Amino acid sequence: MILEALNYAASWPLTSGPHRSAVRYSVNLWSRARRCAEAWRTHEENSRAAILETAGRLKQRRTAVVLGSGLLRDVPIEALCKMFDTVVLVDLVHLASVRGWLSLKRLRNVRLIERDLAGVDDLLAGRPCEPLSFLRQVPYLDLVVSANLLSQIGMGAARRIEAEGQNRQRLLPKVISAHLDGLAGLPCASLLLTDVSYRVIDRDGHVHEEFDLLRGVPVPLGKAEWSWPVSPFGEESADYQIVHRVIACNDQAALLSTRSAVV
Ligand SMILES: C[S@@+](CC[C@H](N)C(=O)[O-])C[C@H]1O[C@@H](n2cnc3c(N)ncnc32)[C@H](O)[C@@H]1O
Repeated sequence: MILEALNYAASWPLTSGPHRSAVRYSVNLWSRARRCAEAWRTHEENSRAAILETAGRLKQRRTAVVLGSGLLRDVPIEALCKMFDTVVLVDLVHLASVRGWLSLKRLRNVRLIERDLAGVDDLLAGRPCEPLSFLRQVPYLDLVVSANLLSQIGMGAARRIEAEGQNRQRLLPKVISAHLDGLAGLPCASLLLTDVSYRVIDRDGHVHEEFDLLRGVPVPLGKAEWSWPVSPFGEESADYQIVHRVIACNDQAALLSTRSAVV
């Protein structure tokens, strides 16, 4: 509790006004990740392996951008810093604990960008929703990783759209699609890491509830897929666990073809 309070207090002044409401979410994620470290290990290892595999295939490694870098648990940041000239980390919030760790490690080629990647404001205002268009300004871009961010964008956007009294069913698929369109349209390599669904499962293995986190928007079959016990037994309930299905897709052509099928 004390560590959480300290991290919260230290992160608050480092975060700009519009994004401060997300500090609490990040600190909660930070404590949950520490509590569930064992259950999350395989997911985090698989995510890091997918990033390294994608980066390793590139001919040039000048700038890499990681979207939803968060706590850097599923991002092999030290390896990326050795492989690339510059690594840009983008998130709503960069916690004081993450900033401190980066300084301690003296990772001098890391840049932090605090940015809302959902594009909901544009969507609600009826403007074109292109939340990844800022990537066009990033020089020498060779890799963009969407690091277990997309379902969280959906969750945040759902709350926002509901608060504005707008139609969630209609708008949420557009938010998800805008992110996928942005990735598919990049002139460089990309890797989409995302949880696509969750299931509530009891101790006998019976599934009680299933939910599509991408709101019906299609994604390519992952090159790799795995389960992520986001809430293992004992975390939220003694009798139920919540398990997310995660995909890793670095096939730009496959991503593009699912996008054109949507249009
Ligand atoms: C499940 S975490 C990703 C974990 C992270 N890749 C790691 O290695 O720890 C989701 C991340 O998405 C970020 N996020 C959620 N909504 C966002 C938005 N609209 N714009 C930018 N980042 C967002 C959260 O702050 C959080 O850090």
